[in-house]
Amino acid sequence: MSNTFYITTPIYYVNDVPHIGHAYTTIAADVLARYHRLLGHDVFFLTGLDEHGQKVQQAAAKSGVDPQAHCDRLAPQFQNLWKKLNISNDAFIRTTDTKHKTVVQQKLQQLFDQQLIYRADYTGWYCTFDERFWTEKDVTDGLCPDCKRPVERLSESNYFFKMGQYHDRLVKHIEAHPDFIRPESRRNEVLGFLKTNPLGDLSISRPKSRLSWGIELPFDRDYVTYVWFDALVNYVSGPDYLLPQPALNHYWPASMHLVGKDILTTHAVYWSTMLMALELPLPRTIFAHGWWTVNGEKMSKSRGNVVDPHGMVDEFGADAFRYFLLREVPFGQDGDFSRHALIGRVNTDLANDLGNLLSRTTAMIERYAGSRVPKPERGTDSDIDRVLQHTAGQLKDAIGVHLDNLEFSRALETIWGLVKLGNQYIDKTAPWVLAKKPEDKSRLDTVLYNAAETLRFLCLFLYPVMPKAAEGIKQQLDLTLNFSKPLFSSDITWGGTVPGTEIVKGAALFPRVETTTTSQGAKTVNQDTPTSPSPAPTPAATATHITIEDFQKIQLKVAKVLSAERVPKSEKLLKLQVDIGSEQRQVVAGIGKKYTPEELIGRRVVIVANLKPAKLMGVESQGMVLAAGDAEVQELVTLISDVDPGTKVK
Ligand code: MSP
Repeated sequence: MSNTFYITTPIYYVNDVPHIGHAYTTIAADVLARYHRLLGHDVFFLTGLDEHGQKVQQAAAKSGVDPQAHCDRLAPQFQNLWKKLNISNDAFIRTTDTKHKTVVQQKLQQLFDQQLIYRADYTGWYCTFDERFWTEKDVTDGLCPDCKRPVERLSESNYFFKMGQYHDRLVKHIEAHPDFIRPESRRNEVLGFLKTNPLGDLSISRPKSRLSWGIELPFDRDYVTYVWFDALVNYVSGPDYLLPQPALNHYWPASMHLVGKDILTTHAVYWSTMLMALELPLPRTIFAHGWWTVNGEKMSKSRGNVVDPHGMVDEFGADAFRYFLLREVPFGQDGDFSRHALIGRVNTDLANDLGNLLSRTTAMIERYAGSRVPKPERGTDSDIDRVLQHTAGQLKDAIGVHLDNLEFSRALETIWGLVKLGNQYIDKTAPWVLAKKPEDKSRLDTVLYNAAETLRFLCLFLYPVMPKAAEGIKQQLDLTLNFSKPLFSSDITWGGTVPGTEIVKGAALFPRVETTTTSQGAKTVNQDTPTSPSPAPTPAATATHITIEDFQKIQLKVAKVLSAERVPKSEKLLKLQVDIGSEQRQVVAGIGKKYTPEELIGRRVVIVANLKPAKLMGVESQGMVLAAGDAEVQELVTLISDVDPGTKVK
């Protein structure tokens, strides 16, 4: 089996700046490229720009510049975005590259010489936006069946590619290769379409009188090439001239063309039949992903809701944006983008789950082991250790299956299984308790080692999706991993962390995103002066008794501590993020002398949930944690066994 993995994105029109749709495909392709490099495959990852055609010509005219100047102005917007998103493409193609144009002309000449391209007069309904003709039966009410814009009757002499003659061969190919068009629902759509519609021939030219911005037909200078015939050829011209040595034979056929669902037909039908005519093998897989709406609405310039990836990266960081797009929606399905959902993922999955695991582990190694990863005691593993090791050990195969199927969200869910298990492992083994007894020292060492080793596995598996976070984990744990080398075969054995390694506790991987309002509109809570609601005295109440009605005004709830950190400059105060079932709250509690932040994470506590919000040393608090003790806190109020966050305490 070939060791090469050639992956492409569509080449994007430079009629406007990049948006979330462009970022989505490119990030997905990047994850697969990085993953296959870790597997030791010879990867070629190509992306680029589609610079010809009507859309680009019109956009240039609108800005009052010539099309090439327009393209040169916009190209860096895409290239800079890919840098900012840590896209690891091996080459970047622009269809205005002289060498690309030469390849397109060669292919056209080849087909013309073989009489697979012919000239004919044609009258039909033309859609300017989609740059294509439609037949009488395609058009209803004078509208383009694709974009629903008005079509115009046009009669013109053009050059046609004999696409129709490949109909049966294409159907057979799709039927014989279940992986050729994915997901399966899209494959069925294409097959259904082909089985009910005979393929016609494809007009591959545009008279220069109508469109001048394109590649000239080598056999008729009055015409330029239809933009799709030019654009699709990039997949074979790129490896031919963008590498130090022509490498088309080495990389072709492509392993994976990633496309949006709207351009599946052009790839599955036009490109496949073009390749058949050119006597080149077809790509292994064309995968069509879904579309993003924004807050439930179609994304469009006129609605003013276009998501700017540059802005997202500036606000949340490249990794968070990459993670969200791939985790939120199964690849292949449509999804909805909202800031609210993105912030939710950042705070829950990234800051609470992953960020906490790293910060508690490094904090405990610092405190209990002098900042050096301790040596585990071999042969003393208990069940809880074995479950952790087993789960980490299975990750490679599980992720492999998901990524082969482009199930990014499931791959991430699987990785998060280990993140959560790592946190539970710390909760259950309670290193802060072990640290109190000298006789538990070797157990403490084993636990801390295992926590660090779990993070090493996570670092490796997170790398394709979140390269910067992986780099951060690697630095903090001083891991010897080299991501530019194949790793998945050699570094996935439990025990790779070298005891004695000095850790360097760093900044939080993913700082929580603070939102200004909570679902209750709460702003601040003051914990120092816990002013419980002071009901007006009723005749029945005395100074020492309250009525049951008074007590019922106090909402006590079980809260799960999601994250905990010290309030700067305070010995006593801890800032907790807690889950109370219906929402997340920030609560500041004066328990920092008795408890360390890391031992609280994952614990159930009881809070007063309807306390008037207040600020404590400038930090917002939305509730009060119950604890026993007079002047000093002695113990937290906890529960004998876990119940769901949000459960009422009465
Ligand atoms: N130039 C052609 C592709 C030629 S490939 C040989 C083109 N360019 S495009 O810039 O208009 O679109 C590029 C990609 O963006 C398509 O895959 C399309 O599906 C995708 N998206 C555009 N809007 C999108 C969303 N709202 N959501 C997800 N992807 C979307 O087509």
